[in-house]
Amino acid sequence: MIRHTLSFRFADDVDDAARGAVLAELATFPDRYPAMQNWSLGENVSTRDDKYTHAMSIDFGSREELQSYLGSDSHESFVRERWRPVIAAQAITSYEYTPRGGTPMTTRPHGPFGMEYARIEVPDMQATIDFLQYHVGLQLESHTDEFAYLRADIEHHSIELISAPERTDGWTTAIGFSVENENVLEQLQKQVADAGLEVLDLQERQQGFCESGFAVRDPNGLVVELFTEFQEYAEPPHIELRPVDLVHPFLATTKYQESLDFYTKVLNFLPSDHIVGSTTFLRGEDRYHHSLALQNNKEHYVAHLCFSMKSLDHVMRMRARALYKGAPIASDIVNHSASTSIAFYLHDPKFGPRYELCDRHRVFTPEEHETHRARRMPADPRNIDVWRPAPDDWGRF
Ligand SMILES: [Fe+2]
Repeated sequence: MIRHTLSFRFADDVDDAARGAVLAELATFPDRYPAMQNWSLGENVSTRDDKYTHAMSIDFGSREELQSYLGSDSHESFVRERWRPVIAAQAITSYEYTPRGGTPMTTRPHGPFGMEYARIEVPDMQATIDFLQYHVGLQLESHTDEFAYLRADIEHHSIELISAPERTDGWTTAIGFSVENENVLEQLQKQVADAGLEVLDLQERQQGFCESGFAVRDPNGLVVELFTEFQEYAEPPHIELRPVDLVHPFLATTKYQESLDFYTKVLNFLPSDHIVGSTTFLRGEDRYHHSLALQNNKEHYVAHLCFSMKSLDHVMRMRARALYKGAPIASDIVNHSASTSIAFYLHDPKFGPRYELCDRHRVFTPEEHETHRARRMPADPRNIDVWRPAPDDWGRF
């Protein structure tokens, strides 16, 4: 990272209006030069040295980015025509530094990093394994009569199946999220306790797959497990047609506002967008547009789990498999308005929630992650799928 600083003093004969115009123009720089990060500008309040009246500081990802800003025509004409005539003195420094590991660039309290797995009780474990292998592309890693672990990429598992022959349909009992470090984990645990919620132990097997963690029940009774250092394999599965990540769960809830408060105020998820009165998309520190979504519903259930594939081509190949085998497609190709992902959804209730296979799920830049303002979109199907032709086309979602 390059930090570029500029200290300066206006000439004594420059009036307030002229000073204000230059300062206002400097404030437009982050919009004009997208490579700028952490832009700031302020008056010098030092009691030790008042040689300069103001200072500005900007970060760039590389020297090349800094040079392309300094060398741009717009910057050079600004310096020549509007800067030099009013500035009496200036000092410039540019230095390279490494941001301290794990230290957030803002003081915003951090939420969980990203989704790692769902735990699902299923009536027929072998049939579910077969489905997840062929139609979702997961790899089976271990399997007993009681449980099975399947993974998408290097993370230890993305689906844990629990044998529950007494059930007729699959039921998701827990969702697991990784957390960046022990400090964030401790803070989240404190917030859970401060909210008067019970801090639960991680499931016993899960304790062996991470460094430390805890669990909490959300307002719907769904167990949320949070942990650091989730184990990873050295290599991804040697399967070409597979997901690369488990992106989010989509939770239908009868306690919409309460759930929203829990996930944003207790667990520090950030709202990315709202479909007003219907759905809120929440993001974690992995900067996916959403690592969790909440939907206002008459019932509570985990409605779907979203996996991202390597490409749209791979999404279409999985869709072809579903059509070929007659696997039920609950919602066919959708172009999501908020997250920009293109996806289809498989659903057989025996195997648990819908499985969404997508490509191009939006990932915010670090700057967008800190500054994005959640949009409030009307409950129009075109705000969920831009390929819907009309405001009354709710069709098969
Ligand atoms: Fe989704």
